[in-house]
Amino acid sequence: MTEPNILVVDDDRNLLELLSIRLGAAGYEPVACDNDACAIKAVQNGAPDLAIVDLQLENTDGITLMQLIQAECPDLPVIILTAHGSIESAVDAMKKGAFNYLTKPFDPKELLIQIERAIENRRIKTELKRLKDLIGKQEEFSNIIAKSEEMRRVLNKVSAIAKTDSTVYIQGESGTGKELIAKAIHMASSRKERPFVAVNCAAIPEGLIESEMFGHEKGSFTGAVRNSKGLFMQAHEGTIFLDEIGDMPMLTQAKLLRVLQERKFYPVGSEKAQEVDLRVVVATNKNLEEEVKSARFREDLFYRIHVIPVHLPPLRERKEDIPLIAQHFVESFSSQMKKNIASLTPKALHKLLNHDWPGNVRELENTIEYAVAMAQDRIIDADLILSTRSFSSDNLQPSTLKQARDKFESEYLTQLMLFTSGNVSRAADLSGRYRADLYGLLKKHNINPETFKKSC
Ligand SMILES: Nc1ncnc2c1ncn2[C@@H]1O[C@H](COP(=O)(O)OP(=O)(O)OP(=O)(O)O)[C@@H](O)[C@H]1O
Ligand SMILES: [Mg+2]
Repeated sequence: MTEPNILVVDDDRNLLELLSIRLGAAGYEPVACDNDACAIKAVQNGAPDLAIVDLQLENTDGITLMQLIQAECPDLPVIILTAHGSIESAVDAMKKGAFNYLTKPFDPKELLIQIERAIENRRIKTELKRLKDLIGKQEEFSNIIAKSEEMRRVLNKVSAIAKTDSTVYIQGESGTGKELIAKAIHMASSRKERPFVAVNCAAIPEGLIESEMFGHEKGSFTGAVRNSKGLFMQAHEGTIFLDEIGDMPMLTQAKLLRVLQERKFYPVGSEKAQEVDLRVVVATNKNLEEEVKSARFREDLFYRIHVIPVHLPPLRERKEDIPLIAQHFVESFSSQMKKNIASLTPKALHKLLNHDWPGNVRELENTIEYAVAMAQDRIIDADLILSTRSFSSDNLQPSTLKQARDKFESEYLTQLMLFTSGNVSRAADLSGRYRADLYGLLKKHNINPETFKKSC
């Protein structure tokens, strides 16, 4: 892997030289320029990973130069160097897109920390953009972040079957994105101009579920003061999403089976069958095979709906997705809350990677929403991550030593891959293992180094 390239621009030649030596010693590849023309040329010759720019240059000011550099290379993080007393301009620079600033004379350690943050942030942002571009070609899936092999497979399957009318059966723990996928299937289908109607079978009281779903005739029961259309009819020509289908009462299951077989149904209190044209998508967080075995779910209905099964893996089994989904939420909450939060520190990311996420993506979303709401700085640090939550739920039952070791190994390898951007030789050096051994371990844990590679 080539070392990160850092453009340094300062008209103070001594400082320029000192910075170049320090950066070189820390393993970076510095490109030093003492004027703006040199800096622009350097950027045109090959995009650096980061630029460090002095606020006051001889011919121009650092902010103007930053904007010229970013016009050549959008999203390039820029750290501004300022003299004491020019904090206002530094803050102005941040508003105009600088990643951060450092006040001279600065602590060399602080400089290296800032650099590491900026480079890691750029890596994650570039990766996120690459994924969004890739997925964006299929617009319906552009809000679904999927980097892991498992999720890529899910999206491939889902996009392949979206255009058919087959029933889709989505299974996954709570918060894994079942509804998101169901909506994406609808939006990728030819029914997308027609309604998408979501029915939460667990939320409707048992006595009302039939009339809610199939509608009723006026006077068919107390309170039925007028005819009602029901959710199935509302979804006519569109998609009906039967969420938490495992919680549907047995009697309703029988009626649903009939609708699925005959594509017609009787509203409560009516003798007249109604025909309906629907795509059916169902979801459950239960193991429905188990429910069938214990006679809580009809076997015939299970086979009717289990046509195209889609399993959404829990977040703890696809940890490579965490940095990107987290960054996606940082950007979206930051813009929703009109804040200017750029990213997470490596420590904060580390904490996210080490958590087990029993509540999956929804829990991650809530965690980031909280952190963005509380953040005072442009960058979210570890103290705002999961600080108010208890970890005890992860540890209810002690695991076996083998399980604990496997968990540690998988997390360690993920971090190693994140740190080296998927460079197995470097990872082998760092971990003190032979390359072949490391490949073996990565394979065992289903971790693909390719997915961690830098794309810019
Ligand atoms: N891969 C992803 N990329 C981006 N956002 C996601 C992803 N997966 C889930 N989300 C978001 O996480 C939240 C939870 O997802 P969703 O409601 O679809 O999950 P669910 O499986 O239906 O959960 P529940 O079982 O609790 O109903 C939503 O805000 C959704 O947009
Ligand atoms: Mg849901």
